[in-house]
Amino acid sequence: MKYAIVTGGARGLGLGIVRALFEEQAVEAVAVIDLRPEPPPAELAGRVHSFTADVTDETQVRAAVAAITHQLGPHPDVLCNNAGGGEANWFEEGSHAEWHSVEIWRRYVDLNLNSVYLVSKEVAPRMRAGGAICNTSSIAGMLATPLLAAYAAAKAGVISYTRSLALQLGPKGIRVNAVAPGLIYTKIWEELGAAIGGGKDHARLAFEHAVRTLTPLGREQTPTDIGRAVAWLCSDKAINVTGQVVAIDGGIVLGRPPLRPAE
Ligand SMILES: NC(=O)c1ccc[n+]([C@@H]2O[C@H](COP(=O)([O-])OP(=O)(O)OC[C@H]3O[C@@H](n4cnc5c(N)ncnc54)[C@H](O)[C@@H]3O)[C@@H](O)[C@H]2O)c1
Repeated sequence: MKYAIVTGGARGLGLGIVRALFEEQAVEAVAVIDLRPEPPPAELAGRVHSFTADVTDETQVRAAVAAITHQLGPHPDVLCNNAGGGEANWFEEGSHAEWHSVEIWRRYVDLNLNSVYLVSKEVAPRMRAGGAICNTSSIAGMLATPLLAAYAAAKAGVISYTRSLALQLGPKGIRVNAVAPGLIYTKIWEELGAAIGGGKDHARLAFEHAVRTLTPLGREQTPTDIGRAVAWLCSDKAINVTGQVVAIDGGIVLGRPPLRPAE
């Protein structure tokens, strides 16, 4: 049975990736590794298997991957390293202080970059030719982002590591790509928007302002948008694509905010 491992697949973009992998018929089952697993939506029940682990913890990752391969088979076909982001107090600190505390800098890098290495190191050696890995980076990894400097540095690291891993695994027939999502209103933006906008009630407004001022296409992105790109990259339709980063961002990384009439 063909199956994928999706980290952070319990909600947000991760759940979008899980749905899209089935829609694309890229796999028949998905193992979700998440810190806080949630029961999958009813229509996915039976095809999604949840495993609890912190992707920043080597021992927990090893145990989760052992349990997954025991249950679903020794050779995962697809790996989506998607878990990442930050916590409300990290965003608060970034919006109020010019410098991250060293502790928070380290936690951003641990969650967003080191986790990709830990999970890949455990899963990739079990994959066979035809396998595919897709890492979730961010537009923050492609553009300077002082408010989230540690997050941006970690996500830029994910792009670099994606390219190195693509070269490492290419001769084994395993492809490695990344996506750089733009602006999606998940829990991350509920918290980031609250930190930027000055409270929970302003979170959605801060998000909409970012979409309006940064996005040439003028629309927010969704977990479905990101999921479909990931599913394509992990399917045989992308058989000759490796080491690439695909921005799904309505054009933000083109680098020129759209000119709109003054408000
Ligand atoms: N939302 C956006 O606008 C946006 C933009 C660019 C990139 N991203 C990236 O997309 C990915 C998913 O973000 P999201 O917006 O869906 O966020 P989210 O907070 O809704 O979902 C993150 C998921 O990861 C899980 N998770 C968090 N820490 C974990 C850990 N240590 N171990 C295991 N699981 C953990 C959470 O429980 C949750 O299910 C992240 O890597 C994020 O950086 C998001």
